[in-house]
Order: sequence, then structure tokens, then C-alpha cells
Amino acid sequence: MSRTSKYFTMTFVILAFALGIFASTYFRAGNEPQIPAEQAETKGIVNIYTARHYGVEQVFEAFTAETGIAVRFTTGSDAILRERIKAEGKFTPADVYLAVDAGNLWLAAEEGLLSPVESEVLTYNIPENMRDTENQWFGLTKRVRTILYHPDRVSPAELSTYEALADSKWQGRLAMRPATHAYTQSLVASMIAAHGEARTREVVQGWVANQPTLIDSDTRILETLAAGGADVAITNHYYLGRLLEANPAFPIRVFWANQNERGAHVNISGGGVTAHSPNRENAIRLLEWLASPQGQKLFADSNHEFPANPAVLPHPIIAEFGSFVADPINMGEFGRLQADAIKLLDEAGYR
Ligand SMILES: [Fe+2]
Repeated sequence: MSRTSKYFTMTFVILAFALGIFASTYFRAGNEPQIPAEQAETKGIVNIYTARHYGVEQVFEAFTAETGIAVRFTTGSDAILRERIKAEGKFTPADVYLAVDAGNLWLAAEEGLLSPVESEVLTYNIPENMRDTENQWFGLTKRVRTILYHPDRVSPAELSTYEALADSKWQGRLAMRPATHAYTQSLVASMIAAHGEARTREVVQGWVANQPTLIDSDTRILETLAAGGADVAITNHYYLGRLLEANPAFPIRVFWANQNERGAHVNISGGGVTAHSPNRENAIRLLEWLASPQGQKLFADSNHEFPANPAVLPHPIIAEFGSFVADPINMGEFGRLQADAIKLLDEAGYR
């Protein structure tokens, strides 16, 4: 070997070695960008304000284990977290806002608290009706607000739609959530979108005339059904999933509402990157990871929700509830029509 070729070989070896260090620092298998550990420990941290509090800790731990990106999170009600982001303005430490109910995500976008994210990973994994038209928020899990019943007192053949619960045969037999809760408001917003206000008002007045027991906890509503305090209720499906996990003999059954027409009312939990996120890049990586099959499985299963990503299978307990037709409405409508829904509920005497 000549001196020149020896020199080139040495240079090549040194370069290859340097490149190897670089690659092992910045890339992992699958060419995923990787943040160097010391950066992840300081300005790489993703700060999350989350109104979704069920089982989030283990999900964020899994994200950190996989990406090396540390996560800090604060929980609170949706309205309080939005107020906080607003008050902190440009100096907010929050990178990501995670919310329950699309109405809350819509409000955050409307108040200028979020920023658009152009991400092929998110648009590929999340169906179009579960994300903002301007990509300011993305649904991550699906919750179905549907009809629940006690099989000793009600036959599923007697059930059909949310609207049919206005029939006087359900007088004194219903348990429902109060009008102050976003879950009720979004359901009524979806009815306004489907029927207009006049027909929706008739339905809500019919519910009120049936004197439903109003309980501000879906779990307590289901326990009331089980104890014989009501026969039929409207709740989110995952509360039954939880109760069944604790007690497989829990007697309440799911009925998928409105299957012969627009479909059952599906809402989401989801998130967006804040307008003044100090660490936008890692915030987007967190949302992308939550939308990926691995993140979806953990995030949805931690609360017995359906994954928003249609490629991911639901938890066995809720898979047992069977498949259903979902109302295909864009979920931003729940926010856009929220004020109308609140007014209609009030005028119809639903408290
Ligand atoms: Fe909930």
C-alpha cells in the first residue's frame, strides 16, 4: 500500500468512526431522529397540560423510554388549563394541550391557543373527521356516547335512537348527565347538526318531560342503573369498560344508538401544539407517537377507548361490545355549535 492510499484509508476510517458516533447519537434503528440525552434533559422536555388524566403517566413513560424525550405534565379541567395557557401567553411552558371532548379542542383553537401542525404522520393515522380542518388539533382516542340499559328491565328491541328516548314510555326510567357537562352539550350539538334546532328542541323537551335522573358522573349513572334506580341511560362506553374490568358480572349492557341512520355519537380526546410552544419539534413528535400504533394501543387501552387510528385494534373488553356505525360528522361541529346547544338545553328546561 502506498503512503497516499494509506493516508486515504486512515482518513476513511476516522471519518467512518466519527459518522458512526454521529449516527448513534442522532439516529436510532428505523432512521428516527434522536435528541441527544443532555438536550432532552434541558430544553428538550415536552410540557403537557392535560385534561385527560386517566392512565397518562405510563403512556408518557413509554414515549420517553422509546425516544429519550422527557415529559412533564400538569392535569386540570379543560377550561382551567385553557385559561392558564391564555394567561401565560408568550411565556407559557406548555408545549401540548391534551383535552377531552372535541368541543374543548375547538375552543382552544378558536381562542388562538394552538398552532397548525403539518404532519403526514398525523394526517395519515387520524381520520379526517377527527381532526381540525386547519390541523390545529388531532383526535387521539374515540369515546362513544351511547345508550346503556339493564337487561332485566329493558329489551334491546325496545331501543333505537337518542331521539326515541323522548317517548313517554321512558317516563321516570332515564338517567342522564346534566346540561353543564360538555358530554351533554356535544351530544345535543350533534343533534342540532343532524336535525336543526326546532326538531332538537322537541327531542330535548321530550327527555325533560320524562323527568330523567340527572347525575354528574357517568360511573354513578351506571351504578344507579345496576342498582335499579333507572332502566336506560346515556353515557360514554368506556365507563362500562372500567366497571366490567373490575367486575365482569356488572349487569349493564351497551346498545349502539342510531345504527339505522346517522350512527352513534362519537367524541374524541385529542391534542394540539400550543401557539407559543417552547419546544415545538418534540411536541409534534409526541403527538405523532401518540397517533402511531404503539402509542395508540397504550393511550386508548389505558381508558378502554377506541383508538382513533383505524389500523389499531381495541381492547378486548370493548371489542366485545361489537362493531358499530359512527356518526361521520366533523367533530369541530361540537365546538362550533356548543353555545347553541347550551342555549337550547336551557330553553328546553334541561338543567
Ligand atoms: Fe370521561
